Amino acid sequence: MPAPSGPRTSSGTGSPTEFEYTLEGPVNGRPQPLDMDFVRGRFPSLTGPFVYFDNGGGSQILQPVLDRLNHHLVRHNVQLGATYPASVAASEALDRAQQGVATLLNAVDPDEIVMGPSTTALLRMISGSVGRVLEPGDEIVVTTGDHEANIGPWLELERRGARIRWWHASPDSGELERSGLEPLLGPATRLVAMTHTSNILGSINPVAEIAELVHGVGGLLCVDGVGYAPHRAVDVQALGADLYVFSFYKTFGPHHAVLWGRRDVLGELPGHGFESISEDDVPYKFQPGNVNYELSVSVLGILDYLGELESQGGTGPAGSEVPRSIVESSYERIAAHEEDLARPLLEMLQDREGVRIVGHTSADRDQRVSIVSFVSSRRSSRDIVTAVDAHGIGIRYGHFYSARLLDELGICTEDGVVRTSMVHYNTRAEVDRLIAALDPLI
Ligand SMILES: Cc1ncc(COP(=O)(O)O)c(C=O)c1O
Repeated sequence: MPAPSGPRTSSGTGSPTEFEYTLEGPVNGRPQPLDMDFVRGRFPSLTGPFVYFDNGGGSQILQPVLDRLNHHLVRHNVQLGATYPASVAASEALDRAQQGVATLLNAVDPDEIVMGPSTTALLRMISGSVGRVLEPGDEIVVTTGDHEANIGPWLELERRGARIRWWHASPDSGELERSGLEPLLGPATRLVAMTHTSNILGSINPVAEIAELVHGVGGLLCVDGVGYAPHRAVDVQALGADLYVFSFYKTFGPHHAVLWGRRDVLGELPGHGFESISEDDVPYKFQPGNVNYELSVSVLGILDYLGELESQGGTGPAGSEVPRSIVESSYERIAAHEEDLARPLLEMLQDREGVRIVGHTSADRDQRVSIVSFVSSRRSSRDIVTAVDAHGIGIRYGHFYSARLLDELGICTEDGVVRTSMVHYNTRAEVDRLIAALDPLI
């Protein structure tokens, strides 16, 4: 990244010293700190004192996403594929969106990008395709560590003759351990469905390692990346899975989602299109009717922003022109910032008698993202969260549709865990406010 000449400092929105840095390059081998004034300025809702710590439920939206949404609806709100100028422009905008999302995921081919309304809907759609090519005796592995969105659609395949095998999360840590999967795999394994990052634990699962195991027996790996994508650069080539899905509304965009599939896998799976659509027509055969044009185009605003982070608000590549290297370097800075947010909260929780951190106790960004969950023996999760509400801090309690994981861990699913899900636009000062609010409660 180009280093501007001369030192520049920023105090961000944190306490005066916490965010001080120079722009002369990485400090102590760490990525360049984020300019928090710039970051927060790009999210138009982040103007007041309210602390958004329920980002695992949904993140705030980026101004460049809103700009692209608005532009598309005002200028290009026409049907694609015609010869008049607005239709040509709209078609080109969609093509650029496919390309931009391919860069965001490091996909080889923009045709591997299938867009849809939500992760739940996309997983249901693709499980329907897998169901149509099942053979007697085929086995599907699902986990007890996943959100229901990546379990329910696969369980339905039992009705089509699939045998369901359960990969149980560890009852001590909640983690999906390789040793729990190995005995389940064999020649009958058709597909394994797992999460990249649990929406409760925040831990990062070794997807590449699991992909190798699953491919070793000839199966496919379908990964739910919803808990991972807001925090780290998704790299579908490095992960080696076959299907990968996440939602943009938790990744600073609108209520829209993407399913990536390896080109050969998507080519072979039956589509849900009309009879006139050929089975080679990927991704269209998985987007029956029309994909939502304006939302698809708007997600290019996420790329704009990752480019802006690199240029610190100066001019640089935008949208589909943002190179993959910038996606990666921006996410490295995001990851380092998130680690600094998670650390003090985890340290405070670790010091408390009667508090059980549900997930890794370390803030290490190679192991976890900044989703921190806990239970307290002193107070119910519900009572803790409602008391924190009064401080203008939005956190949340419950099972977050990962009730099977809480069952494994022996945690009451009705009350569930207290979850604080932080993203990079949150500040150390906000974490300090949360710690002060939790202090008398736990
Ligand atoms: C880990 C995880 N997977 C899947 C989903 C479902 O996503 P969507 O709401 O886009 O269907 C969620 C939503 O909270 C989630 O947290």
